[in-house]
Amino acid sequence: MKIVLCGFMGCGKSSIGAMVQKKTNVNFCEIDTYVVEKYKLSISKIFEKYGEDFFRKAETDALIELLKSDDVLIGSGGGTVINPINSKIIKESGAKIIFLDVPLAAIQERLKNDKKRPLLQREDREDFIEKLYNQRKPIYENASDIVIPAGAPVKVVAKKIIKLLRI
Ligand code: S3P
Repeated sequence: MKIVLCGFMGCGKSSIGAMVQKKTNVNFCEIDTYVVEKYKLSISKIFEKYGEDFFRKAETDALIELLKSDDVLIGSGGGTVINPINSKIIKESGAKIIFLDVPLAAIQERLKNDKKRPLLQREDREDFIEKLYNQRKPIYENASDIVIPAGAPVKVVAKKIIKLLRI
């Protein structure tokens, strides 16, 4: 089983993936974690030192590496499947994409005090999130095989995924 979790920043890809791993024996890996470990720098530092384009290339490389496993649940970054090259790579690998669909209001609430995500460190954070969310949502929907309403607590969403995948 090869699955990629996708969705906007703050939709719960990391915590839900970790919960699914805890409750089953599935191997959960994250693209951001892979990149952080490879460069021994936080995502913010990578953006700061090398720029976003460099990060996007590292993200694609990490995706290709993680997809080499036959049995894996991959937590993508909010921008991963937005790049059509990445969605193509995922599809060609035979992996299925699950979109964790969380309403904008909940996303705004979860991200309002975020200090780690480089894209969000700006004065007009709320407007920026709204614009980016509306721009990206149809892309997540289009790229995904399964859409899971994911505004509920982590445990509830993880359970839904486990049931759906019969793992
Ligand atoms: C990004 C989302 C982040 C991280 C990077 C860029 C994005 O991951 O990959 O800051 O473009 O939405 P999360 O979705 O885990 O926050």
